[in-house]
Amino acid sequence: MKVIEKSGNDVLLLALPNEELSRGEYILIEDNAQEMKMVVQVYDESYLDWPELTNDLVREEILNNSSQKIEHDPLEIKTISYIIRDMKLLRCKIRCIFNKDNLTLNRSWLPSRVTTKANKLSISELFSLAKRDGYRIIPLGITSSGEAFYINAEALDGKLNIITGKKGTGKSHLAKLIISNLAKYGAYIIVFDLNDEYKGLGWNKDGKPNSICNKIVNFIPGVSLRFTLDYVGLSSMINILQHTLEIPGASLREFIRIWELLESQGSLKLINLGEVIQKWRCNELIKDALFSRYHAIISSRLFSDDIKDTIKFEDLFLKFKEGGVIIISLSRLQPQARKMSVELILSKIVDLLEKKKIPPIFLFAEEAHLYLRDTYWDDIVTRMRHFGVFTTFITNQPDAIKDCIYRQADNLFIFNFTNDADLETISRASTTDSDTIKSIVKMLPPRTCMILGKVVNDLPVIISVKPTDMLTLGETIFFFKDYRGENVKKVYN
Ligand SMILES: Nc1ncnc2c1ncn2[C@@H]1O[C@H](COP(=O)(O)OP(=O)(O)O)[C@@H](O)[C@H]1O
Ligand SMILES: [Mg+2]
Repeated sequence: MKVIEKSGNDVLLLALPNEELSRGEYILIEDNAQEMKMVVQVYDESYLDWPELTNDLVREEILNNSSQKIEHDPLEIKTISYIIRDMKLLRCKIRCIFNKDNLTLNRSWLPSRVTTKANKLSISELFSLAKRDGYRIIPLGITSSGEAFYINAEALDGKLNIITGKKGTGKSHLAKLIISNLAKYGAYIIVFDLNDEYKGLGWNKDGKPNSICNKIVNFIPGVSLRFTLDYVGLSSMINILQHTLEIPGASLREFIRIWELLESQGSLKLINLGEVIQKWRCNELIKDALFSRYHAIISSRLFSDDIKDTIKFEDLFLKFKEGGVIIISLSRLQPQARKMSVELILSKIVDLLEKKKIPPIFLFAEEAHLYLRDTYWDDIVTRMRHFGVFTTFITNQPDAIKDCIYRQADNLFIFNFTNDADLETISRASTTDSDTIKSIVKMLPPRTCMILGKVVNDLPVIISVKPTDMLTLGETIFFFKDYRGENVKKVYN
């Protein structure tokens, strides 16, 4: 390969037909005399666009079809001309430049067209040049040249991650792969599960439990996940009343007075709350507002006066000493109960983290725009992250996540998108150049993803995600199952 052109961050390379390089692969451009190295990544490829070549092709095609051929080519000129026709131009982006093995930020080096050598760089060579920190390996799959690829769990610690891509491309699969590896390393994970698909994390396809099976708990808010009022506390309750039940200010003030009264009497129970509201001397409109919220609280079934019926997060963390996965199943909940549950769980978790009663947690949220209120997004990436909630958003609607969240994301796992508007959203918001994202993401086959960010030292990598032996649940139910040629699997709780 030879360097032909460099302008700005772009390098144009000329490659022979037998030099197989696909989009996303890396090339090392070296100049031994100057002790300089440049790492570039292919983002697009094309043929040489010489008008003479096209003329030749057209002429030959016509001749081939119109007359009997007499082959006589003693100097094998044809072979060379064929090679020229198939030569490729590789459009590349500069990813880093090394001066005597030290990474330099100065991108002004112009490699010589004569003395520099350009060779393909494997992923292992790439990351031995750009050293990645960490030793808790999470194998994710293989690269296009068949090399095994892994990330380090440390690069997810304290970070904000986004997994996005079209429906059915393998986002949840990747999330499950990451979760099960984090759990193996003893991390604590909370999953907001919309499709009841994460329950299978602890089981193999043949129905046998795997190594993390005893670290997994599954909760359904209102059924197996209930809290006492005492445990929830006033501030979490105010959050719920304000943000999901939209209580007016005057009524909220009365609610707080009632709550404080019951607390001072040591009788903070649902049943007493109802009684006191009934007897409370206040304006009828306020009383109505209080009652309607009280009934919403009761009907969510999230609260109970019976301590045996309820849980405390800190007890769960004590029980799972070696890490654990808490799956919150949101699939069967009404939108309001869903929002209340999420509000309550998040505010309680942050409260416990602030008091240093629980260790930091990794939060995996599928389609978070369906249950996360607007003001929570910024809170998650700033305050909550500070206290130790490290979120991974998983979505097939990239525009449901605000640009400012993308910009703060440390790691981005992008699966295929063909829709131009979606591609535009992602490429506008990510720190990687939009040429790379647009030209590569469109071409990604299912189960293949492009990884950007800290886990890859800001060197975008394309991998095909590996299959797992995990039990897959939550798949769409089809009517014509025989058409898909699949056996019907039945899983009972
Ligand atoms: N890398 C992979 N290897 C094997 N099966 C996969 C892989 N990625 C996804 N799948 C399967 O493809 C289907 C769709 O994947 P899923 O992760 O649910 O997609 P998404 O969440 O993007 O809609 C699932 O049945 C899943 O088990
Ligand atoms: Mg999914």
